[in-house]
Amino acid sequence: MLRVLIGCLLVPFFIGCSGSDKAGIGSEELDVVVNNPNIDSELTLLMRKMYEDADSIKQSIKNNTGTITEELIAELELVHTANPSDPKLNNSTFTAFNELLIAEAKTLKSQTEGKVEGFNNLVNKCIDCHKTFCPGPIPRIKKLKI
Ligand code: HEC
Repeated sequence: MLRVLIGCLLVPFFIGCSGSDKAGIGSEELDVVVNNPNIDSELTLLMRKMYEDADSIKQSIKNNTGTITEELIAELELVHTANPSDPKLNNSTFTAFNELLIAEAKTLKSQTEGKVEGFNNLVNKCIDCHKTFCPGPIPRIKKLKI
């Protein structure tokens, strides 16, 4: 009984988060999915861009030719305002996770030493938010680590 209850509380968070496991969604939740047109949200598109940029920054840190860019930091700041697939995603917890990510990104920008560790800390901040809001892409995000 308790598990069912917890399931019901958690499921709404995962709806609309592409890549998440939709198995086990009840009929009530399915209605919400159906109402959601199958168009990628602004937030989804932004996340894909962030992923690509983080991947090329990973290479430049690995080769010791660069570090995090202002461009990626600007993208992280857009996460606050990009439209998610589910308006429920816009809440103070979501904003707090994003602020932690931005703070970590700025720390990395200021580092001349320990950039590999700084970059991995940044990826952990992506994962922290995903654990709560969108677990589907976590295995992919983990691959960003150096
Ligand atoms: C504040 C919370 C939060 C943070 C921080 C965050 N994400 Fe996301 N991410 C989401 C949510 C929510 C979605 C689903 C978007 C939607 O459904 O509109 C998502 C979706 C994604 C996707 C899937 C896109 C697709 O193709 O469906 C990828 C990949 C991704 N994020 C990567 C990242 C990376 C890399 C970082 C760190 C640089 C990051 N995320 C940081 C919340 C976050």
